[in-house]
Amino acid sequence: MIRVGLIGAGYIGMVHLEQLIRLGGLKVVWVVDSNLDMAKRAAAKYGIENYSTDYKDIVDSAEIDVIHNCTPNKYHFQINREALLNGKQILSEKPLAMTVAEAEELWNLSVQKNTVTGVDFCYRYYPVVQEAAARIQKGELGDVRMVFGSWFQDWLSLETDYSWRLEKSENGPSNVTADLGSHWFDLVQFVTGLKVTDVMGDFATILPVRKKPKKQVLAFQHVEEADSEDLTCELEEYSAVHFRLNRTVPGSFTTSQICNGRKSDTSFDIYGKESSLSWNHKDANRLWIGHRFGPNEELIENSQIMHPGAARFAVLPAGHPLGYFDAVLHLFEDYYKALEAGEGASLSTSRPTFYTGYDEMKILEAIIASNKQRKWQTL
Ligand SMILES: NC(=O)c1ccc[n+]([C@@H]2O[C@H](COP(=O)([O-])OP(=O)(O)OC[C@H]3O[C@@H](n4cnc5c(N)ncnc54)[C@H](O)[C@@H]3O)[C@@H](O)[C@H]2O)c1
Repeated sequence: MIRVGLIGAGYIGMVHLEQLIRLGGLKVVWVVDSNLDMAKRAAAKYGIENYSTDYKDIVDSAEIDVIHNCTPNKYHFQINREALLNGKQILSEKPLAMTVAEAEELWNLSVQKNTVTGVDFCYRYYPVVQEAAARIQKGELGDVRMVFGSWFQDWLSLETDYSWRLEKSENGPSNVTADLGSHWFDLVQFVTGLKVTDVMGDFATILPVRKKPKKQVLAFQHVEEADSEDLTCELEEYSAVHFRLNRTVPGSFTTSQICNGRKSDTSFDIYGKESSLSWNHKDANRLWIGHRFGPNEELIENSQIMHPGAARFAVLPAGHPLGYFDAVLHLFEDYYKALEAGEGASLSTSRPTFYTGYDEMKILEAIIASNKQRKWQTL
């Protein structure tokens, strides 16, 4: 039985636990959160025997095989590194680290230790996103000509909204580009099979002063907390990125978390020589296929009409939509299958690994530099 320890039982930590229970074939034996109440709550909900507040309790414990690192970004490098050095297998939250140098060190270490790593870029595990990738790989779209997309949310739109994501000391040099951009660029590179090679970013801070509650606030929580202090925000709350894929294919991406009314509108439009594809997380089970001549199509998640590689994820009968929990579950399934198969630190896998996380950090760091220098950066 594989023994799992999870660190960080906030929003995404609870998503991980829910999916680990569904996955089966393993046992979550320890949950750590620096807030004892959070660790206790998670342990009680999922019947986990051990809980504590110090991640060191599990990164060097002989009782643990796999670590799920669900802490805020500031702790990713430190915890992932210690887990690797102690011979643990590790599935980390995104972004993998706060700098390219850190991410590179983690990838190199995982190669040295031949560790099965994973990064939770879960959006690529929606069945119709997999279908989009399969169609492009089979040449059905023809050469990709242009890519557009955006990601809008509203949970940070008030001056009284707070997340550690807004603080450079907690989150590193980028807010929304690191948070949502890392997912979006992973999606687009995965679906098109092309690599981001050039970027030009334009950032803006919209609310330079916010109220930071004195008590802990989890992601997506809204609290009207009277006991707060002023926080000066310097990180970006608006990010627009022009980019090129494989040096030639142009594209653009815009994101913000202060767009009232937008909950998690993630989309991509991919225009090919023969036809076009469009996906939006609001309708996550539908893929739009556009044609110049002939009527446009709408493919609704259905294993009977999808490419086999994508159909394996559409596990319910057509008309019974899967969702975010299922996307995370399918990523975990791939991760644990790789572990059972003794895959090691492989570059020839379609799963997101620490190499994917390292690759994403290069894109992010180039976007940050381009915004700062007000000019294009080549990766
Ligand atoms: N893959 C996804 O779709 C997705 C979605 C949301 C968040 N995330 C990522 O997950 C991570 C956590 O984000 P969140 O939204 O869950 O944040 P959160 O604030 O809701 O939860 C973070 C938890 O970690 C705990 N914590 C903080 N420092 C710790 C430490 N040193 N040791 C142990 N526990 C510690 C906090 O007490 C809190 O319970 C971030 O890196 C974020 O980018 C990924």
